[in-house]
Amino acid sequence: MKKSELVQQILGSHFGKVPENHRTAEAFAPSNIALCKYWGKRDTDLNLPLTSSLSVALPAFGSHILLSVNSDKKDEIILNDSPVQSDTQFYRRFIDYINLFRPKLSWYFKAVIHSTVPVSAGLASSASGFASLVLALNQLFEWQFDRRQLSVLARLGSGSACRSLWDGFVEWQAGVRADGMDSHGVPLEQIWPDLCLGLLIFSVDAKPISSREAMQRTVQTSRLYRDWPAQVSSDMEKIKKAIREKNFLLLGESAEANAIAMHATMADAIPGISYALPETKTSIQKIRQMRDEGISVYFTQDAGPNLKLIFLRQDMPDISRCFPGLQVVQLFSAGTF
Ligand code: PMV
Repeated sequence: MKKSELVQQILGSHFGKVPENHRTAEAFAPSNIALCKYWGKRDTDLNLPLTSSLSVALPAFGSHILLSVNSDKKDEIILNDSPVQSDTQFYRRFIDYINLFRPKLSWYFKAVIHSTVPVSAGLASSASGFASLVLALNQLFEWQFDRRQLSVLARLGSGSACRSLWDGFVEWQAGVRADGMDSHGVPLEQIWPDLCLGLLIFSVDAKPISSREAMQRTVQTSRLYRDWPAQVSSDMEKIKKAIREKNFLLLGESAEANAIAMHATMADAIPGISYALPETKTSIQKIRQMRDEGISVYFTQDAGPNLKLIFLRQDMPDISRCFPGLQVVQLFSAGTF
């Protein structure tokens, strides 16, 4: 099934209908960081994953969007006060996605986007970007879809976007259906106010290889990837148990092991993929040394060189001392420290 066919199926009688009211819609969605990673697709067009994943939202960092009908007869995107040029990847990805919902060819959109992810934070903005866009489309077209339906739609823009429809912990259930209607985010009810995440940024340069391409190469060529589904099942169970029981050691150990295993599958791809910079490696050594000294801190790493540290609020002074410049994010109430 193609993306456009699925969108028609989901929209049903809404498809192709021009909204009568609400000529401007406004929405916000947070970024998210996976504690159990999504790595590998069973359907590359619908962004259907081979395994489930689990994330936590960064409520202070995300995308705010004002979406309206553009009477200027052209699509227009303004990002953080600057127009986005039509020859950029950002523009093409956005327009390809919004074309799935355009009711008439003569209908144009204007999107004014403010990313509250600091430009220097090196966090992927596509998850919060597509999640906020889908929330705004839901308002603009008056679909009145629930969050799970919107999560399916957001997934079509970027896989991890399906986890950005909620605050807190969110599980993306892989699902088994060919149309992916059972592959969406499901929020966990638990909160963990003492849990902190710190951003350790080494580079904000464009990735040498996109996560989309790296995932495909890993699935197709890495022998280690054969063990990934079993690793995810076991990590997922441990992470959910850790969240239920507020067992920080189990959470930290499992999330870190999961990230290391994901990067091992990439290293084993042909040709091998590494996102690490020298600073990534020395910081990982430092984190291990800190643990030997009794400081409870763990890391996770996505498709880039930067690290995200996981720790409890009580350890924040020690950790900030060891990593000056660490940006600490509150996970269960808005703001940074
Ligand atoms: O949603 P994408 O295509 O940007 O892929 C995200 C992949 C990872 O960040 C590496 C893992 C994850 O689960 O977020």
